[in-house]
Amino acid sequence: MGMGRGARLLGFCLWLWLPRLRVQGPRPAQPEQVHLSYPGDPSSMVVTWTTFDPAESLVLFGQAPGKALPHKASGNATRFVDGGSLGRAMFIHRVTLRGLLPGQSYVYRCGSPWGWSQRYGFRALQNGSSWSPRFALFGDMGLENPQSLSRLQRETQQGWYDAVLHIGDFAYDLDSDNALVGDAFMRKIEAVAAFVPYMTCPGNHEEKYNFSNYRSRFSMPGDTESLWYSWDVGPAHLITFSTEVYFFLDYGEQLVAKQFQWLERDLQEANQPARRGERPWIITMGHRPMYCSNNDKDDCTQYESIVRKGLKPNRYGLEDLFFKYGVDLMLWAHEHSYERLWPVYNYKVYNGSTAAPYTNPSTPVHIITGSAGCKEQLDPFIPDPREWSAVRIEDYGYARMQIVNMTHLWLEQVSDDQNGKVVDKIWLIKDRHGPRAWH
Ligand SMILES: *[C@@H]1O[C@H](CO)[C@@H](O)[C@H](O)[C@H]1NC(C)=O
Ligand SMILES: *[C@@H]1O[C@H](CO)[C@@H](O)[C@H](O)[C@H]1NC(C)=O
Ligand SMILES: *[C@@H]1O[C@H](CO)[C@@H](O)[C@H](O)[C@H]1NC(C)=O
Ligand SMILES: *[C@@H]1O[C@H](CO)[C@@H](O)[C@H](O)[C@H]1NC(C)=O
Ligand SMILES: *[C@@H]1O[C@H](CO)[C@@H](O)[C@H](O)[C@H]1NC(C)=O
Repeated sequence: MGMGRGARLLGFCLWLWLPRLRVQGPRPAQPEQVHLSYPGDPSSMVVTWTTFDPAESLVLFGQAPGKALPHKASGNATRFVDGGSLGRAMFIHRVTLRGLLPGQSYVYRCGSPWGWSQRYGFRALQNGSSWSPRFALFGDMGLENPQSLSRLQRETQQGWYDAVLHIGDFAYDLDSDNALVGDAFMRKIEAVAAFVPYMTCPGNHEEKYNFSNYRSRFSMPGDTESLWYSWDVGPAHLITFSTEVYFFLDYGEQLVAKQFQWLERDLQEANQPARRGERPWIITMGHRPMYCSNNDKDDCTQYESIVRKGLKPNRYGLEDLFFKYGVDLMLWAHEHSYERLWPVYNYKVYNGSTAAPYTNPSTPVHIITGSAGCKEQLDPFIPDPREWSAVRIEDYGYARMQIVNMTHLWLEQVSDDQNGKVVDKIWLIKDRHGPRAWH
């Protein structure tokens, strides 16, 4: 005996209706573009990610290699609308993990009941100043042609680094193609940035819509939307700033003064005897260098570079400021090459000695490493550099830095063109730090 026609019709209607019931719940919101940043406290870490639908902001975490993730932290999402013609919207989620044990390894996943990420892991930074933090640093890495990324991924996941410093110019560009390039780039660097704090500063490629893709997607410490900030790590105080405030004055010339005043106050505080005694190294990171010997007519090729000397006439120049407060080392990018300078101030070389130029130099040291790879390829050099230029390498690559202790800092440059070979290295040795080291 078959089913009655009425029952069959009812079954058919149920069949039509049930799938619609299933999509009545919240839309799935799969986390992507997961990255970490260090908020300046070794018991904390910030997790940032993107969803395209609204969702809660949760992170489940626990100590590695535990199977369970017993801790839960919650945070907030902000809705970000790109300035492009499509006005694409996305939700940027931020959660601060607290109560971490310094130096310990953790696993985590982020998301919400509407979608969880896979598991990632990181090591909380160590506490205090007597340890030797290790960094990878580079600038100018794009979605296309990111030559250094696979090597950085492998080394990061092998635990080589405590933090990564990306010294401006991302994706080429974060806003391109209605910010789809930014999304794809942020997905791509997840292989590094979900495992180690990925610390950033803005470069000229972030300029569109008043740096809004940069300001919205990253989560650096402080309250300036990742534009300028500082943090302590081991025996060092790291200061990050925007060189771009000097060049895009339409977004607010007052930002030049505001940042400069912040820089001076931060440098004064870092130079208080108790603080400088504990963290003697002061290291700056900014995108456009003061000096370079590339042949592209950039600011650093000008005798009176704006970053170096400030806005005309002589306002907010950074070389004098950094000299005055005894900055030890300045890290730069922007030029798609590697260049190391002899210790230099106002175009004059002040070697520690001819035999050991970087042992107790009388001025700051500059390193430019901006060739992690992008679609604009490499920047060539002029044939005859000035006497302050020590080493120039036109290869794709990135630098490694270890702040070994209060007196010794190691820097080396890796070449991707030469299969990961270390192509330059120095010990920067300082028995004295601060302005009193300049003699
Ligand atoms: C870090 O060290 C300081 C000084 O010893 C101590 O007060 C602080 O509680 C430590 N922080 C953590 C997270 O262990
Ligand atoms: C969410 O953001 C608001 C405003 O910024 C803040 O007051 C609140 O504490 C945040 N909530 C969480 C869970 O972080
Ligand atoms: C650009 O962004 C900065 C930082 O958020 C802000 O202070 C400034 O007012 C903005 N400028 C314009 C023209 O919107
Ligand atoms: C600085 O030291 C280097 C390396 O010894 C040397 O080649 C260079 O000429 C020195 N520069 C000056 C101005 O003494
Ligand atoms: C600092 O590190 C250097 C290089 O490893 C080492 O020679 C020196 O003895 C260390 N100094 C102290 C005080 O440990």
